[in-house]
Amino acid sequence: MSTSNDNFTAWAGVQRGKPFTKMELKLKEWDADSIELNITHCGLCASDVHALDEDWFPSDFPCVFGHEIVGTVTRIGENVKHLKVGDRAGVGAQSGSCHQCEACLDGQPNLCLEDYLYTFGSRWPNGDKTYGGFADKWRGDHRFTFKVPDDMTSEIAATFFCAGITTFAPLRRANIIPGESVVGIMGIGGLGHFAVQFAKALGAKVIGISHNESKRDIALELGCDDYISVNDKESFDKYNNGLTHILCTGTSSDFAWHTYFALLKINGHFINVFSPTWDLPGMNSFTLFNKQIKVYASKIGTPKEMEDMLAFAAENKIKPWITTYKMDDVNKAIEDFRAGKARFRFVLEN
Ligand SMILES: NC(=O)c1ccc[n+]([C@@H]2O[C@H](COP(=O)([O-])OP(=O)(O)OC[C@H]3O[C@@H](n4cnc5c(N)ncnc54)[C@H](OP(=O)(O)O)[C@@H]3O)[C@@H](O)[C@H]2O)c1
Ligand SMILES: [Zn+2]
Ligand SMILES: [Zn+2]
Repeated sequence: MSTSNDNFTAWAGVQRGKPFTKMELKLKEWDADSIELNITHCGLCASDVHALDEDWFPSDFPCVFGHEIVGTVTRIGENVKHLKVGDRAGVGAQSGSCHQCEACLDGQPNLCLEDYLYTFGSRWPNGDKTYGGFADKWRGDHRFTFKVPDDMTSEIAATFFCAGITTFAPLRRANIIPGESVVGIMGIGGLGHFAVQFAKALGAKVIGISHNESKRDIALELGCDDYISVNDKESFDKYNNGLTHILCTGTSSDFAWHTYFALLKINGHFINVFSPTWDLPGMNSFTLFNKQIKVYASKIGTPKEMEDMLAFAAENKIKPWITTYKMDDVNKAIEDFRAGKARFRFVLEN
């Protein structure tokens, strides 16, 4: 039985590509695994905009986007042991899983094969919708919520829950060797600016790879050791067979595999987290075999990796570059995001 108010106020998407509308909606049904937050902050990710625009698949409107959520715990179900009322907690792009498939049993619910619940646009087992963070409250499953480190402010913490984990997890798994690995980060945006900092903190030499010549100075300021401008052949030639890893967080639709495989050393890694609206192009098999390149992907991260990331970020002073907007100005934030003004993440604040 619910003892709190089951309604909440959200800035909801109501139609493809259209501005958000402020409205009252109903939280999911309360149960023993539930936890409720008063949202203080929520980051804005490119995936929110893709979902609003229905770039990948239809959205279940009204849909409350936002999946870099931080708030204060206001209520916990009887199964919740890792957080208490008054704690600061966060939730990212995943809010639920089946808990019994091979992936879930292996501690990788981010790859759940049966019932992966996105923080917005999915349905809880009873049919209630999952709602995200452009709102005043969030209610969901405690198993996808994490304590915010004490020495991290909430506005800073928010963006770790998607951009942070999505870049930390694959870099952490990629066997980066301090002083030896040379890691290229494609796309210096919300995810990319975290990736640069994580790769650097893991001990790699870091090369920013960007379409935007004007980001050179800012990439170096972020911690890149050097910079490849996509339209400058000379800067590519300098790193021919020179990188051990590439992490792709964004590129343009004229992307060609061979251009980036040429940058990799033998047995190099090409790791993709970018999710464009277009299909990745075909690749020539010889460009793949000749250097035995490993091409693979990564989806957010596991709960364990989320905890490791928060600790690593706090310890290594990883700091997102953010601009805050009032939650009521979410439509302005989306407009500015579409205009490419984010340097590098926008955070909505209640
Ligand atoms: N795998 C996952 O689990 C996961 C999780 C979260 C997000 N994502 C996906 O990751 C991607 C990045 O998200 P984000 O929030 O970091 O986005 P973002 O802030 O917009 O950054 C993406 C960067 O990619 C480059 N880029 C993107 N589209 C381009 C184009 N058409 N032409 C030229 N350059 C382009 C730009 O960098 P430069 O100007 O420096 O080239 C841009 O700054 C999105 O596709 C998102 O859906 C995946
Ligand atoms: Zn995201
Ligand atoms: Zn599962």
